[in-house]
Amino acid sequence: MSDSRSGFSSRIGFVAAAAGSAVGLGNIWKFPYETAQNGGGAFLFLYLIFVFLIGFPVMVGEIAMGRNTSSNPFGAYNKLGGKNWAYVGLLGVICGVMILSFYNVIAGWAFGYFLQVSFGDLLAEENYGQFFGAYISDISNVFFFSLSFMVVTGFVVWRGVQKGIEFAAKLLMPILFVILIGLIIFALTLPNAGLGIEYYLTPDFSKLTLPTINSAMGHAFFTLSLGMGALITYGSYISKKDNITSSAAIVTTADTAVAFLAGLLMLPLVFIQGEAPEASGPGLVFVILPGIFEQMGPFLGRFIGGTFFLLLCVAALTSTISLLEVPVSYFVDEKKWSRAKSVIVLSSVIFALGLPSMMSQGDNALIPPLPFLHAPNNTFLDLVADTFTVVSLPLGGLLMCIFISRRWGTAKLSEEVAQGNPSYIGSRLEKAINLLITYILPVVLGIIFIVNVYTIFIA
Ligand code: TRP
Repeated sequence: MSDSRSGFSSRIGFVAAAAGSAVGLGNIWKFPYETAQNGGGAFLFLYLIFVFLIGFPVMVGEIAMGRNTSSNPFGAYNKLGGKNWAYVGLLGVICGVMILSFYNVIAGWAFGYFLQVSFGDLLAEENYGQFFGAYISDISNVFFFSLSFMVVTGFVVWRGVQKGIEFAAKLLMPILFVILIGLIIFALTLPNAGLGIEYYLTPDFSKLTLPTINSAMGHAFFTLSLGMGALITYGSYISKKDNITSSAAIVTTADTAVAFLAGLLMLPLVFIQGEAPEASGPGLVFVILPGIFEQMGPFLGRFIGGTFFLLLCVAALTSTISLLEVPVSYFVDEKKWSRAKSVIVLSSVIFALGLPSMMSQGDNALIPPLPFLHAPNNTFLDLVADTFTVVSLPLGGLLMCIFISRRWGTAKLSEEVAQGNPSYIGSRLEKAINLLITYILPVVLGIIFIVNVYTIFIA
């Protein structure tokens, strides 16, 4: 590692930061409901297979490329594969910018709701659906909350890898676990908790349709923050002595555990009246849950509700940090900008790029829904999210597998991984990872990419 580039102080620092990147809004608001609606235990089983068969090898590949080159995604591809391949890294940097632009808007809602529930009078509203619809189209609110979120994210990234990213992850990840476990213990005492858990986990293999399988694969990728070089970037800050495969296994397991646990919290909460609510995604978190917190009474509702939205903010923050670090590392490495300048310029630009997404939401959205997308997921925010996550992340993963197997070479990958894990070469794990990256993942990720382009933009 060169002197000008500092790194994580320890393996724990890296694992905390990478797990923080992985654990995000996706784990808490998407995974529980997706599981419940798509076959419960059967979906979970499938998801576990995808996380470990698709996500884990790609994660090892990303971390190894980052550590081998001590570079941001663009620099990593550039050093190992030359100018043309560097565009793949650049795509990752662009994805970081664009994903953060809309992710930060949603994080802003979570932050606003945290304040409103804890200190305001949101729980006295009449109709939470109406309130939410009006709230997110009221730019004067969301602007301020999203801006605050970006400022905090920028501050952490500006402090640097050790004093910012690592420090924040080591502080926030334990807080996240404590809040999550505390809320689960509370949720399990609610009247219909058993029904909720049953709905969440009872396996129904008949619900495993092709679209479900496809979305499980896509989600496995998104939730681990793969496909855009976030882990190339974090991997560039680790030591040659670190064991990449075991770090990746811990991060993968931690992310899966949080997703699973989030279901043990969400389903008992939403089943408080003994039935599954219709809404999922944002509607579930911002519309159904406030009604449930209200039922708990003014004090408990405020406390449990506030704590829940705090959990959402903490989960989102460690993810926004990793998203910002990708383009920041690109400008620091390649354009020789100072970290301070990179952070200020990029967070301003990204915030500005998020404004159309912000203005496309809610009942009185300034930017109307887009006719060429499927309702109700047809806002400008959906367009950005679809393009830069659902479509681009599998593409990024596909290109990385092709790059490692056809250009850099799996022997080089193994050599890099073996530093810090001497028994790796010749092991079954090595054979499995190489087989997956060379033959299986290019096919699987290629299919996901094509299916997603088709379902979003064509069908
Ligand atoms: N993994 C995060 C979540 O589940 C989102 C995220 C953070 C992400 N950084 C990323 C997704 C990088 C893709 C790439 O919410």
